[in-house]
Amino acid sequence: MSGARGRIGILTAGGDCPGLNAVISGAVHYGIRNGYEFVGFQRGFEGILTPVLTQPLTDKDVSGISHIGGTILHTTNRGRFGGKVGVGNSNQIPDEILEEAKHNLQQLGIDALIIIGGDGSLSAGLQLSEKGVRVIGVPKTIDNDLAATDQTFGFSTALTVAVEALDRVHTTATSHDRLLFVEVMGRHTGWIALKAGLAGGADAILLPEFPFQIDDLVAYLRERRKQNKNSSIVVVAEGAMVEGELSIEDGGSSEVRFAGVTQRIMKRIEQKAPDEFEMRATVVGHIQRGGTPNARDRILARAYGVGAIDALLAGENAVMVSLHGQEVSTVPLIEAVSHLKAVGEDVLEYQVVKKLGIFMH
Ligand code: F6P
Repeated sequence: MSGARGRIGILTAGGDCPGLNAVISGAVHYGIRNGYEFVGFQRGFEGILTPVLTQPLTDKDVSGISHIGGTILHTTNRGRFGGKVGVGNSNQIPDEILEEAKHNLQQLGIDALIIIGGDGSLSAGLQLSEKGVRVIGVPKTIDNDLAATDQTFGFSTALTVAVEALDRVHTTATSHDRLLFVEVMGRHTGWIALKAGLAGGADAILLPEFPFQIDDLVAYLRERRKQNKNSSIVVVAEGAMVEGELSIEDGGSSEVRFAGVTQRIMKRIEQKAPDEFEMRATVVGHIQRGGTPNARDRILARAYGVGAIDALLAGENAVMVSLHGQEVSTVPLIEAVSHLKAVGEDVLEYQVVKKLGIFMH
């Protein structure tokens, strides 16, 4: 009875993330068992615009892909469908683009679209749903910054990679008595930095949520020196603010590019304390996003894929699947894209960091 229940499109949008293939696998395997058939759209929303880019998604096509990083459907965070630029900003997608996408989906007989994406892609999905396309969202981002779900898939793997990077710099920092910076991803929120910093034994953690002063950081590092702690490790979220300013670069696309925060911090420290600290920086970068998803992310991603089909079976529309405790349920898309989950003082890791005297303002 293949396809008797309906034809479902799937796309992966925005930056890639470990676990995307596991979502696709969960949705397609379970969906086929329930009478749906699937079409994959390539390169995110570009795939539903003209010329349409599709690929078959049969049971066989999605077999053995859950452990593979990246996305078999390819993705992009550029293109004609940019849904969000920066925190809180919503980009209105031109009407003709939304209409074109809707028309193409109708032509292909698509009954609903599963959009696997973060804040920006889901906000684009919301605009598409307002045009009458049935949309189910799946929360993807290594930043773990969507408030409407306990956890996004991909975060756990990224955190593991960041902790490993920290573990590795400890010995080299100690051997050279250096001040070592480890820059991790996190545009608007510092979940990776906070948790990796705590797990990886960082001495200072710099997050977008808690602006700090260079003078305070220098004073803290000097104090460590007085205690014969001659090396220090500082974790920096890419979106941390240096004296109230973000380090962003014009990437020429609708996405704001975060780059250079650690270099700025090092430069400012050197100005304040010339030749006092021998500094080096490691930017973990896309290693956090690439490669094999860990077990936690594969399980969560497959559960989200299955959850997206359950949402379809329940007749839902304009919702995002979300995790609450042990349960995958749904929240309205509008709610999912309107609140970012920021690190607050009530968070356990925040409190532990403060009690341990790790620098974090
Ligand atoms: O939003 C996820 C994310 O990984 C951010 O943490 C990071 O700033 C951004 O994507 C990087 O994207 P790109 O792949 O375009 O460099």
